[in-house]
This record gives sequence, C-alpha cells and structure tokens, in this order.
Amino acid sequence: MENDAHKSVAFDALLNNAVSRRNLIKTGGAIGASGFLAGTSTLANAVSQATTLMSFKQIPMSTADTVSLPEGYRYDVLVAWGDPIVKSGAKFAVTNTAADQKTQFGDNTDGMSLFHLRSDDGKLDENRGVMAVNSEYINKEFMHVHKGENLTTDDVKKEIAAHGVNVFEVSKNKKGQWKVAKNGKLNRRFHGDADEFVMTGPVAGHALLKTAADPSGRRIIGTFNNCGNGRTPWDTYLTCEENFNGYFGAPKGTSLSKEQKAYGLSETGFDYNWWPTEERFNLAEHPNEANRFGWIVEIDPLNPESKAMKRSALGRFKHENAALTLSADGHAVVYMGDDERGEFVYKFVSDKTYIEGNRAHNMTLLENGTLYAAKFNDNGSGEWVELSYGKNGLTEANGFDSQEYILVYARLAARFVGATTMDRPEWVACHPSSPMVFCTLTNNKNRGVKDDQPVNGANPRAKNDFGHIVRWVPENRDHLSSRFGWDLFVVAGNPTTQTGAMAGSDNVNADNMFNSPDGLAFDADGRLWIQTDGDYSNEGKFAGQGNNQMLCADPVTGHIRRFLVGPRGCEITGSAFANDQRTLFVGIQHPSETWPNAHKDGVPRSAVIAISREDGGVIGT
Ligand code: FEO
Ligand code: CA
Ligand code: CA
Repeated sequence: MENDAHKSVAFDALLNNAVSRRNLIKTGGAIGASGFLAGTSTLANAVSQATTLMSFKQIPMSTADTVSLPEGYRYDVLVAWGDPIVKSGAKFAVTNTAADQKTQFGDNTDGMSLFHLRSDDGKLDENRGVMAVNSEYINKEFMHVHKGENLTTDDVKKEIAAHGVNVFEVSKNKKGQWKVAKNGKLNRRFHGDADEFVMTGPVAGHALLKTAADPSGRRIIGTFNNCGNGRTPWDTYLTCEENFNGYFGAPKGTSLSKEQKAYGLSETGFDYNWWPTEERFNLAEHPNEANRFGWIVEIDPLNPESKAMKRSALGRFKHENAALTLSADGHAVVYMGDDERGEFVYKFVSDKTYIEGNRAHNMTLLENGTLYAAKFNDNGSGEWVELSYGKNGLTEANGFDSQEYILVYARLAARFVGATTMDRPEWVACHPSSPMVFCTLTNNKNRGVKDDQPVNGANPRAKNDFGHIVRWVPENRDHLSSRFGWDLFVVAGNPTTQTGAMAGSDNVNADNMFNSPDGLAFDADGRLWIQTDGDYSNEGKFAGQGNNQMLCADPVTGHIRRFLVGPRGCEITGSAFANDQRTLFVGIQHPSETWPNAHKDGVPRSAVIAISREDGGVIGT
C-alpha cells in the first residue's frame, strides 16, 4: 500500500515547526491534552480525522490466560524456551543441563528480526528466512527443579546459557505455518558463555576493558540481558545489552566507584548470585569485566562463521533497542534509549556513509562515529548535544579524560552536558517513509520526586505511573541536524478511574487504554505497533486495563486500537514482520500460568508466536 503519512497536513505542520513550534502547541486542540499539560505540546492533529491505515475491529481488554486477537486472526507458537533450535538439540525438560540449553531457544524472548533468505536466482524467498531473537533474562523459579534455591555449578552455567541471541532458520509449510528449520546451516546460539564476541571501535583494547583473562581488551565472553533490537539496511542484527549490572556481585564491604554506582552495580546485583561460582562476575576481583557489557552488538545472521561485534562507538548504557535509519546522504543514524528512571535518549551518527550493494563496507559503519544526547526544551524544540572529548565541557578539568572514558561512561557525560532526564526511555522507532521518530517512556515513579527528575515538558507528570510516547522530527527533515521539534504522541492513562493528567490524552479512551508502553515498531506501511510491559493487576488505578497488550496506531492522526492481549503475567515484547506483511511474529515474555503448554511440562514458557489472518491478508489493515 502506498504510504502517504508524510504528505498529510499534520505531518507538514510538525516538520515546518520542528524548531520554531509556532503552530504545534494547540491549546484546546482536538486532542485536548494540552489543557491539563500546561505548556506541553501534544499531537497537533485531531483523532477526529479518519484513519486509513487500519480497519480491524479492536478487541476488548482481557484477563484470560490466552492470546486474544481480533476476529479473523489466528496464531501458532513458533518456538518456546527450551525448544531445540539445532538438529542435535535436546528436548525440553526442566532437568535440562547447561550443555542442553546451549542447543535450545533461550529464556525470556525479546527483540527479534526476520531476514528472508535468497533463492538461487538471487530473489528473496518469501517462504524462508533466518530469525534472530533475543533471550533477555531467566526465570529461576521455572528453570530448575529446585526453583533456584540450591544452585550447582551446572545450574549457573545453564542460566548463563539461557541468555543471549538465538539464530535459526524458519520456513513456511504447505499449510502456511512458519516452522523452525532445525537443520538450518545458519542456526546458532550466541549465549552468555560463548567465545564469539569482539570489541570494536574507539574503546577496543583500552585499559578500561582489559581483564586478567583478556589482556587484549578485545575478546569478550558472552552477551547478557539482550533486550530490544535493531536491524540494518545491510541485513545485520543489532542486539542491545540492557540490565547487565544485575549479574555482577561482590563480597560485603566492597567499595564501588562513582562510575560503577552510576550503572547500578552493587554487591548483590539482582540476586543471580553467579559470582561465587563464576569468578569473572566478582566486581572486587574483576572490576573491568562489567565494562565489557552494556553495548550494542552487531551480528551477521547470514554468515555462520562470523563473530559478533560489540560496537563501542554507540556508547555504554542500559540499551533498550537501536532504531537505525539512513540520513539523506547515507550516514547511519541510530536512535537509542537508556531504560532507567532519569536516564537519556541518544543518537549516533556514523563517520562513513552507506554504499548500496557493498556489504563488507557497510558492516564497518557502526565502528566509528559521533554520539549525542537529547535535550528536550519545554517549548517543544530540542537539541542533540555532542558527547565528544573536548566539547561541551567534556574535558579533563571536569573529569572526562578521553573519548574512551566518555563512551564507557556515557551516562556521566550525558548528565554533565545537561541532557534531559527522561521517564525510562524504552524502544525508539523510525517511521519508514518520513523523518518522524517515536520513543516510549514507559513510566517513572521518581518524576517530580527526585531532584534530578523535575516535571518538564517532555515528562509532564509527577509519579508517572502510565507512561507516554514522545515524537520528534529533525530540523529540515535531516537526521544529521542538531535540532529537532517534538511533541507527545500519546499520554497513557485511565479515563475510567482517573481524572486530570492521569486520565491520559484524548486519543486514550475506555476501550483502548493501556499503561507502560515499551516495545515499539513500524511496519512497512507506517502503522505504529505499541507493546506494553506494565501493571496487569487490573485493579485500582489500572482497573479495566487487563493483561499486557499490543496496540496499533496511526502515527499521524493519533488513532490507537487494541490488537492483541497476552496471557496472564506476561509482557508483550519484540516483533518482526514477514516481507509480505502477512505474518507478524510477536514475543510473549514470562507468561506466568498455563499458557502456552504448561499442561505438558508443568512450567509456563516464554514463546514467539506467528500471527496471520484467516483470509491471508495484510496484518493490521
Ligand atoms: Fe528490557 Fe527496558 O526492557
Ligand atoms: Ca522493554
Ligand atoms: Ca519495560
């Protein structure tokens, strides 16, 4: 379908006023949110304008232990935690060992991409592909027979092996169902214990990355807490290391540096308790090991011999995902969020430019470039502040002694230059045919409470329980511009239990309401898909919002419709479309009861589902 979102009047208004913002702040406009969010600009256009992007009938909220979809839609489970993804892989059982887990799909599915394979004539094969899927963390209570109470050495290794990235071929059978091709030549696991990672870019080989086991500072073991993802126009996969801090620990009384504290490293971590068994996670003995995590990692899913490249130029923080687009002149521009209360939104611009058809060259684009952090001014303008040594006060006198230090401790640099502390930046998504960029700000109980997180235009509610989505457009439609205009696309809330700001913006109503937007992606037609990771109690201020869900939005008019509701206890995260848009893969992370197959093996298992239409049509239309 021809996408004409970029031709609409509303979009042009946003573009033309990207910096001056004269017409964008519409007090009392049809969306109506600016009344209660005094001084904050919200979506300029009206939800009363018809949407042509979607016509499916939205579904009601649900608290059922199942996946609910609109009429005419169906799903299959493609793969669940513990399913073998290689030919010799072990069958799932709670008693599986670490060696078994290395042959199986990891736990807690998250970001994902599908890369169609080419047939012999060079054409993309619509019925075959290779998937790359993140496994973010583990559920100890389901992973072991003892529920995590008495960890053996092998149990710890099994937990480590359940993290990382799963790469496996998929193909469509005669019934039109996608299946894992267990004998695929490209199938492999990049797990937490894999010796498959190479540090690249400015920080490679720097003293801050050197450890006793790796004096080169370049050869990393493993990847952890692989949250959201990105994909490049040269068909590589970006996996994003988020809460790496939780895996490290130290004996009581270990003193931690200001840099370690800024990244949430602590004696106990998230109680994984790996460090007594796996020495490298002991912060007291191996303080630099933690500096080797918190990066964006580029994986070539099409080359089974390739190493995974950690891209230090993109900075170290708790990476949610990586939204990559090309500037008009071919620079790779990557927008990124750091998911923590009061952290920042970042932009990377590559030094080199994209060359169509030259994959080897393009695979060097993320090695070197410039990093920026975002400042959202209350008047709806914004600026990207460069995080380069010697600029914006990032000098020795102020504690920043090199570009390498700035990249390893990007949070300190962003804070120093006055970037805007945000309400937990999760996923960023770039519109496919216009320069609009969207970012979920999931929630923030500290807003208006902690001194460094005052209420401001882009984060307009104290104790923000429901979250919101910010939208920006670069000046002159140019992603290289240091200035942008922004507004709030949606302010989530509950109009049935709350009044004022917590009721949400006018594109939220009793039928489509949600809390804690997190996963975010565009399909090729420009529909915006929003996934939630929020309060699913269905009680109190969240009454009527049910289980976590996935919604579809028109990015210009602001219409939002509920498309999917997940089973109990789960978070919906990660998505990928087949090229023909007739299959949508979605991640159901940490379901807590009987879905999808607990009756067989006694534990709920995170799973990727494949959604299609009974009439074979395009998803979401
Ligand atoms: Fe892994 Fe911020 O979600
Ligand atoms: Ca997330
Ligand atoms: Ca989240």
